Amino acid sequence: MQIFSHIYPLKTTLMDWRSKNQIIALVPTMGGLHRAHLALVEAAQKKADRVVVSIFVNPMQFAAHEDFDTYPRSIQADLAALEALKVDIAFIPDAGEIYPSNESLNQAKFKKKYQKNTYLFEILCGRTRPHFFYGVLQVVQRLFEIVAPDVAVFGQKDYQQLKIIQKFTQGVEIISVAVVRENDGLAISTRNQYLNASERMLAPQLYKTLSQLLRDELDKQSAIGQLQHHFKLDYLQVLDADTLSEIDDNSSKIAILCAVFLGKNRLIDNIVFRR
Ligand code: PAF
Repeated sequence: MQIFSHIYPLKTTLMDWRSKNQIIALVPTMGGLHRAHLALVEAAQKKADRVVVSIFVNPMQFAAHEDFDTYPRSIQADLAALEALKVDIAFIPDAGEIYPSNESLNQAKFKKKYQKNTYLFEILCGRTRPHFFYGVLQVVQRLFEIVAPDVAVFGQKDYQQLKIIQKFTQGVEIISVAVVRENDGLAISTRNQYLNASERMLAPQLYKTLSQLLRDELDKQSAIGQLQHHFKLDYLQVLDADTLSEIDDNSSKIAILCAVFLGKNRLIDNIVFRR
């Protein structure tokens, strides 16, 4: 596995692969790699000849009060896991490489481009994290500009993020991978390590409730009641899975989407199904 932190040598290798018509996949990550990330890498390897995994804790998607400074960083373990999977390149840039100018660090300017299209950025998680999806989209577009992959892979756990990337990026095939869960149903996330023992015991109640709603064992109001028993509810929504708007006669896929607070933690999860 080659490890690059600078764009120029990375591009030289990518050019060489492209001259041999090799298909290149990118798996963007913020490190703290776990089983769900490795599933993204495996999906990328099935689609492409070469796989690049980026590890970059993107400051633009954290608000000032959020956990940028303490976000789990485990670069040595991450590199060992990627090496074991025979990933071709780990790209580990620093912030100056991704955001070379002060202008690129100006979210207001970036947001302006989407001022006629704010819906997907503002609903669901966008209400509690208004900066978040703009920061994600900015870094993903920048990584696409640098790597110019044929394919990029994202997890369905961050369903709203996936929809935004699908809608607002061009020229890269976006592949998504189903939510990967612990045995008790909890969706795997780097931030799960913030949960203390009693929070960890409660956390699977989120997926359990969404599954009961899916199976019609609970209606939406009772599901809300059950969630509020264990958590502070942020939102529970049942929407058209393609547009994330209200379900109508044309909706063929439905998404149950939920976010809750558990102590200082925020958990998100979803179930997407065909009607
Ligand atoms: O899902 C994530 O880990 C991040 O939001 C992403 C897509 C790597 C952008 O920083």
